[in-house]
Amino acid sequence: MVLVSGTGTNLGALLEASADGRWGAAVVGVVSDRADAPALQRARDAGLPAEVVALRDHPDRAAWDAALTEAVVALAPDLVVLAGFMRLVGPTFLGRLGGRVVNTHPALSPSFPGTRAPADALAYGVKVTGATVLLVDEGVDTGAVLAQVTVPVHDDDDVEALHERIKSAERPLLVDVVGRMARGGWSTSPDNPRKVLLP
Ligand code: GRF
Repeated sequence: MVLVSGTGTNLGALLEASADGRWGAAVVGVVSDRADAPALQRARDAGLPAEVVALRDHPDRAAWDAALTEAVVALAPDLVVLAGFMRLVGPTFLGRLGGRVVNTHPALSPSFPGTRAPADALAYGVKVTGATVLLVDEGVDTGAVLAQVTVPVHDDDDVEALHERIKSAERPLLVDVVGRMARGGWSTSPDNPRKVLLP
């Protein structure tokens, strides 16, 4: 299942991959924290369950965390993919689903964590940035890295141009990692728990 907050181009790439049985995974449902996320329409167009669990509809973060957890657990997913989900998941969520929650982040972790990564990379003046697919832990983009791809920064980039270039590389990376995890599982190196091995 896939968690989204925005336009859902990463979700779109996962849905496209689902159509090919050789990919080894299938999207079973989509949950968003935003009722106005265009990604929800992509899910509905694909005939998938699409649910909204908004923070403002709950008395506090703990109640939202519990409701989000229930919505995801109800779909019985093998893997949870955060594809442009712009909130931190909470302790209840990680207690139930931790270890099989994957996020995609538009920077080369551990550089530029958080929700403004392309802007932060531009402001820093780096010449190369990229995307990281990582396991989710309780920190902000601090989980173990599953895969990364580099993307050049151009002298005339603005945030939008840079983010679009990153997203063009990010989508195939996410599709590749999710497929590999679904087909062959994953393991952790015995000598380094941060080193995740994909088939
Ligand atoms: C992606 O770059 C993701 O890494 C970031 O937000 C963007 C979401 O794009 N957190 P989309 O909604 O999948 O088009």
